[in-house]
Amino acid sequence: MTEAQVIRRIVKPVIWVAGLAPFAWQVWAFFTGHLEAEPVKGMEHFTGRTALTILFITLAVTPLRRLTQRNSLIKVRRLIGLFAFFYGLVHFSIFLVFDLELSFRDLAEEIVKRPYITVGFGVLLILTTLAVTSPLFMVRKLGKRWQKLHRLIYLAAVGGVVHFLWAQKKDIRLPLIYGAVLLVLLGVRLLPALRTPRARRTVPETG
Ligand code: HEM
Repeated sequence: MTEAQVIRRIVKPVIWVAGLAPFAWQVWAFFTGHLEAEPVKGMEHFTGRTALTILFITLAVTPLRRLTQRNSLIKVRRLIGLFAFFYGLVHFSIFLVFDLELSFRDLAEEIVKRPYITVGFGVLLILTTLAVTSPLFMVRKLGKRWQKLHRLIYLAAVGGVVHFLWAQKKDIRLPLIYGAVLLVLLGVRLLPALRTPRARRTVPETG
């Protein structure tokens, strides 16, 4: 099998199964009464962490590609990124349906009044923009602007950590750990960029 076939026949199906597993688990827990004592909070925490974790995995693809020198890895980045968007959307929908009972007036109030919701909403808007502009025809249509636009993923990741930190009432250890991981991910991406003169950075990174 060629590398492209391995990606298509093995890696992508594995990502689909792994990406849908947390969702399937939540749906099962919801319908069989296996959620936590505070079910809505439990679902919000689970889906929020899953979204942020998958966003980090998306950010890790490029350094991993450079490290292993397997350029075809870029082909799975889009799929993983779409799962981050999916869980962000599920997370938001749980808040909208169960906490706000679908009141968009209350949603607007929450966005204005609570800074962590404002940031979460901003992150979701970025993830939506990236998801909508991720198909190949959009990459072609936007040309050079595509790469610039997709750098917003860094802002989304930073916003995600700030949202996580702000949402905590007491224990901030976990969001701090996420923050430290993000620093490492941003660091390993910045290093080659600092070492390589601009003109030599020619490989477009889409996918
Ligand atoms: C409009 C968009 C969003 C809304 C309304 C929202 C709302 C919430 C709420 C209500 C909580 C629970 C806070 C509590 O414990 O009382 C929460 C936590 C969290 N959210 Fe969001 N969120 C949004 C977007 C996002 C996005 C896009 C991400 C990830 C990329 C995210 C990641 C998280 C994380 C990691 C937590 C903390 C989970 C934990 O405590 O274990 N949120 N969010």
